[in-house]
Amino acid sequence: MKFFIDTANLEEIAEAQALGVLDGVTTNPSLMAKEGITGADNILNHYKKICDIVEGDVSAEVIATDFEGMVKQGEELAALNPQIVVKLPMIADGVKACKYFSDKGIKTNVTLVFSVGQALLAAKAGATYVSPFLGRLDDISTDGLHLISEIRQVYDNYGFETQILSASVRHTMHVINCAKIGSDVMTGPLSSITGLLKHPLTDSGLAKFLEDYKKGN
Ligand code: E4P
Repeated sequence: MKFFIDTANLEEIAEAQALGVLDGVTTNPSLMAKEGITGADNILNHYKKICDIVEGDVSAEVIATDFEGMVKQGEELAALNPQIVVKLPMIADGVKACKYFSDKGIKTNVTLVFSVGQALLAAKAGATYVSPFLGRLDDISTDGLHLISEIRQVYDNYGFETQILSASVRHTMHVINCAKIGSDVMTGPLSSITGLLKHPLTDSGLAKFLEDYKKGN
């Protein structure tokens, strides 16, 4: 399973990259705003900085909600760097734009997906990635992981190549369960990745090894 980090914070992206397990980055307008990145030029420049830090795919979201606007913005984003994946909302014009970009060989990520039917549409439009938001479903007492497993089943039934990018991952158990289900990618905060490191038996075991080494030297 690929690990993407879901942030626009350059320090956190660099930390995950330095760990050696990072496969890409996802962002959204809210994450950009959280870092204080506003204005079209600053946002485009920030995407370039992210691409300089990571080697993998970087999802950059369009703001337009009409087909022509999405195509214009998506082409501008895609021209920044071959790593850019054009992130499109799951609305009718977003599906049309997805088909447009996939026909042109430009990578896409269809976002704000909350049902199997939406995921099916994204796959039929040739999306590179589909982003079901599992945490936001959990937030409203709906089983987000169940959605991921249903999408997995439908995609496998027909051999769709669209990668399931489990989004809105909030913690380590989401990551582990996504891996069990067979999600192709997960995107979450830095803590959902570094949290996987932690085990008290690792810490106490290492402390004992070092203590015993000192005794013999
Ligand atoms: C997906 O690409 C989104 O950026 C993200 O995962 C949303 O997560 P949230 O529900 O924690 O905001």
